[in-house]
Amino acid sequence: MIEFVSNTNFAPSEPKAEKVGEALHLQLGHKSEVAQPSFEEISAKLGTPEIKARIDFLLKQYPVKQGALLEVLWIAQNELSWVPHAAVKWAAQICQCSPAHAWGVATFYTMYKHAPTGRFLLQFCQNICCHITGAENIISLAEKKLRIKTGETTEDNLFTIVRVECLGACGNGPVMLVNDDFATDVADGKLVMPLNKGLNEERLDKIIAWCRENAKIQREHKRDPLGGVTGAVHGEPQPTDFAPAPPALGVKATVNENGVAIVWKIAPEVTALAIERKSDNKWQLVGNPGVKDKEFVDASGKPGCEYRIIATSGERVAKPSAVFTS
Ligand code: FES
Repeated sequence: MIEFVSNTNFAPSEPKAEKVGEALHLQLGHKSEVAQPSFEEISAKLGTPEIKARIDFLLKQYPVKQGALLEVLWIAQNELSWVPHAAVKWAAQICQCSPAHAWGVATFYTMYKHAPTGRFLLQFCQNICCHITGAENIISLAEKKLRIKTGETTEDNLFTIVRVECLGACGNGPVMLVNDDFATDVADGKLVMPLNKGLNEERLDKIIAWCRENAKIQREHKRDPLGGVTGAVHGEPQPTDFAPAPPALGVKATVNENGVAIVWKIAPEVTALAIERKSDNKWQLVGNPGVKDKEFVDASGKPGCEYRIIATSGERVAKPSAVFTS
């Protein structure tokens, strides 16, 4: 079992007005001073029944509440589009760790935003490989085309430019991330990073045009065929229930004197299971074993039958397991 050890003990108390991380917006490339919402405003926004239920579920997954800190911060960012100081304290209170510890975590991982950004956060690598392949030129071109400086957001709230350190794609320099995706070009209507093709003016124009075009389209979150959320939408916050429920693994079906015995392995967060058998090219439910069960016998099963298992975790439905044959 992993033991989480706080760097200080958290004593729940009324948060005091204090100035933490004043220069953080600069460190992350956001130039303007950011108005910080109060703890009360944050708590009201994050106190919905859906968020409470999600947090209760998360806290149960860890032996120590502090283990859920990354996800609780993530929930705050999904709801608010960034992580204000008060949200860090809110997360610390929920995870029963010190605000200082939560602050350290929230500022260590660069996926947490400490200032509001435009819908498309353009993160340009300024590190050595990208620098020598023309990053400075590309960054000034982007600033010129979008009429903003690094750290600023366009008036239409579409683009924010920041500079970041090595993104781990040095061979393709100069490179950038558009939100969470590498982008040095656009192909087939998608952002792509073809091997050895770094950013240049023409590709930067294509990427900016792609962003503008996609900003007009309201798209649904990607869902698997059974409705489980499997992905976020470019330029929009990830849904709180991002990540599908875990599927059943290690599934096997063996014929015995009682029919077909089916076995599987499942993660603890699964709340329901359904076993289906293929019949006349259609999947039909044959049973709902308990989540603690380790075996299910299909008394009508025969050799050569095809099966699959569908797991559910709360509201989320996993992709069906691999198909297995008895
Ligand atoms: S130096 Fe730019 S990705 Fe590594």
